[in-house]
Parts: sequence; structure tokens; C-alpha cells
Amino acid sequence: GLLAAAGAAGLTGLATGAAAGHAAAGARAEPDSALAPARGRAGAREGLPPALLAPTPAQVHLIAVDLRGEEGDGVREAARRVLRTWSRQARDLHGHGLADLVEGAPSRGLLPASLGVTLGLGPSLLTRAGLADRRPPQLEDLPAFASDRLEPEWCGGDLLLHVGAEDPLVLSSAVGHLLGAVAADVRVRWSLPGFQRSAAAARDPAATPRNLMGQIDGTVNPHPSDAVFGPQVLAAHPAGPLGWMDGGTYLVVRRIRMLLDDWFALDPADREAAVGRRLSDGAPLGGAAPDDLADLSAAGDDGDPVIPRDAHIRLASPENTLGARMLRRGFSYDLGWDAGGERRAGLVFTAWQADPRAGFTPVQRALDEGGDALGPFVRHEGSALFAVPPAREEGPWTAHDLLG
Ligand code: HEM
Repeated sequence: GLLAAAGAAGLTGLATGAAAGHAAAGARAEPDSALAPARGRAGAREGLPPALLAPTPAQVHLIAVDLRGEEGDGVREAARRVLRTWSRQARDLHGHGLADLVEGAPSRGLLPASLGVTLGLGPSLLTRAGLADRRPPQLEDLPAFASDRLEPEWCGGDLLLHVGAEDPLVLSSAVGHLLGAVAADVRVRWSLPGFQRSAAAARDPAATPRNLMGQIDGTVNPHPSDAVFGPQVLAAHPAGPLGWMDGGTYLVVRRIRMLLDDWFALDPADREAAVGRRLSDGAPLGGAAPDDLADLSAAGDDGDPVIPRDAHIRLASPENTLGARMLRRGFSYDLGWDAGGERRAGLVFTAWQADPRAGFTPVQRALDEGGDALGPFVRHEGSALFAVPPAREEGPWTAHDLLG
């Protein structure tokens, strides 16, 4: 929400790298409205991946792939070919969109629609490529959590392709183009498309969107112009074996199914108590406005806390997690119903941080240990961790200093 607001409020002046590519829309000098209904895309910092520019795109597709090839040199060379190709293609796509690149593309004639490509490297890539000594401790495998209900086929991956756009056809076309170019080197492991309400439906495009449970989700997040944004979200590694991640960020992806029938069977007041925020406007219980700080010490007339002991925002708060922080970007997914008649819908949860050991992990532990009131209504079915090197539109290909 805050990021989106920042974009709308005109951080464009600070835009660099990928963001400038979006705004300029290539050499054809299209007017800003060429991005419509995309709205301009602004990033406040050099190196911020397109996935973190604001406003958040209406559509995303996350695709985790494994590399083919012999362990060691084979995997390493495949990684080099794939990352070189995707980096070059991402630059072209950010500049022109797909239309001019491929004869007969499905997106022919369409505008770039704020297409943004972000690339990540999984821990398994470093192991399989024989680069264990270049693996940052921040990329240590996530521990098991009490709430895990993980399906192995929805976990892990050597590389992540994260593509966002305002338009589903533009997105699909770009994903097809990117994967088609590396088909000989990769096998798709899992993929998950996500969405938010689009500009066509948003009365206020800068407002924080709702998830499928009907909650305003994304209110409390570090803002790129905060002094703490860098230390909390961006990795700092001195030059040396881990220097390839200096200025990058570590991404945790969780595929979280929502048990929506059970959730909507609750009274609205119980739904509000489970999160600790009002359904109507997302304000913390006891607060007046959405951006008010949650008062975790307030008690009602009965002496009970206004924000219950097991409320999601109490358990996830920095007060309860030794100051843990991350940047959350959630998207909904809705894949219809499976063969057993169960709805396959939920949250594509993404958390971006300088160090998952001080971000996602302590927060998930606190949610588990405190008996998160949202817990019975969600099921963590997929999990993955990626290193996202800094995005530099002008520099060499992504992770060249690791693999080059
Ligand atoms: C806050 C929903 C999973 C961490 C919130 C809020 C909602 C929400 C509605 C309040 C508004 C906001 O600040 O964004 C959900 C749902 C989830 C989920 C529906 C699962 C389907 C998670 C997970 C984590 C997490 C897996 C991390 C391990 C947080 C944090 C906050 C938050 C750190 C802000 C707490 C604060 O106020 O300081 N979540 N969440 N959430 N959530 Fe979640």
C-alpha cells in the first residue's frame, strides 16, 4: 500500500534502471498513456528489482525451473546461458514490450503494459553448479515450520522467473517468449500465476488491495524512501565470494491455500479479531484510520486486549519477533476447483528481505508458536527461497559475477 502510494505520489523523479525503461517505453517515444491502464511505474532505488517497483502490477506469473545438465560444469554452463538470455530479453521487453521482438506474437499491437521481469537463483543451483562456497548464509534452506503442509512438487527450484504486467495477454506472451528461448536448458518445476484487482476496477489505484479473504493486505510494509528500507530489504555483502549479491534481496515464496468456505462461515467480528484489523477499511482494532499504528497494549472494558493475543498482526509484529521485518507483496491465485471439488485459491505470498533468517523465519515461527488465529483457515502448500541479484539495466547480465 505504501509502495503503491509512493508511486502515485510521484517518486518517478528518482526512477532509475528498470523503472526508467518502463517510463520511456523504448525509442518509439510513446506517450505516458501508452502504459495505460498500467499507470507509470516508479522505483526509488538503483538495483531494485522490477517486482518491487510501484504500483504493483495486476498480474504476475512465478515460474521455478530446474536446469538440465551434469552436476558441476554442465549445470553451471546451463545457468550461464539461461541468465544471459533472460537478462538480454528482459532488457528488450522493458524497453519495447514483446510486440516488435517476435513475428506473430500474441501480444502484437499491444502496449508494454508495465511488463517487468525479475530473476532469482535458488540454493539448489549453487549446490548443483559446484558453487557451494559462493552461497550466502542468507540463502540457507528454510527450516521446517509447524504449519508446513508442503507438496514437494510446489517447492524449490534452481531459478525463478517472476514476470509482472498489467495485462494477462502481454504477460502470457512474455512468459512464453522467455521460456521458449531456454527450453533446451530448463524444465519447469512449478508455476503459479497471481493477480490483484486491476486498474479497471480500482476506484483508487494507490489504495492497498484486498486478498481473497476480503482483508486489506499489505498495509504495514517498509517504504523505499525510509532510511530503514535498505538495511531491512537489501543485502549488503562486501566484495569477495558473496559480492555477487551486494545490493540484491532474498525472496521467500509461499503458496498458501485459503480455506475460503470456512473463513466466510465466521462472523465478520471473528474475522476481524483473527487479523486484528477492521474489514471495512483495514484500520487496526481500536484505531481510527488504516495507517494508524496498532495499539497492542490497549485493553477493553473486560480487561481483554483489544487486539486479541492470537491476532495475526500481534504475532507478526516487530514487537513480538525481535524486530523482524520484510517487504510483503501478496497476490491472489484462483485456479478453480480440483477433481475432489476443493477450491484451489489462496495467496501467492512473497517476502523480500536482506536476510530471511532475520525476516521471514522468525515471523513464521512466531505465528506458529502463538497459534495464529488465521492458521486454521490457510494451508502452506509450497515454499521456495531465492537470491535476487541487483537489477541493473545497463550492466552485464544477472549474476555474471557469480557465473561469468
Ligand atoms: C499483516 C493477511 C500470511 C507476515 C497482515 C495483515 C493481513 C494479513 C490482512 C494486516 C494488514 C497488513 O499489514 O498487511 C495474511 C494472510 C496470510 C498471511 C491472509 C496467509 C494466507 C503471512 C505470513 C507472514 C505474514 C506467512 C510471514 C511469515 C505478516 C506481517 C504483517 C502481516 C509481518 C504486519 C504485522 C504488523 O502489523 O507489524 N497479514 N497474512 N503474513 N502479515 Fe500476514
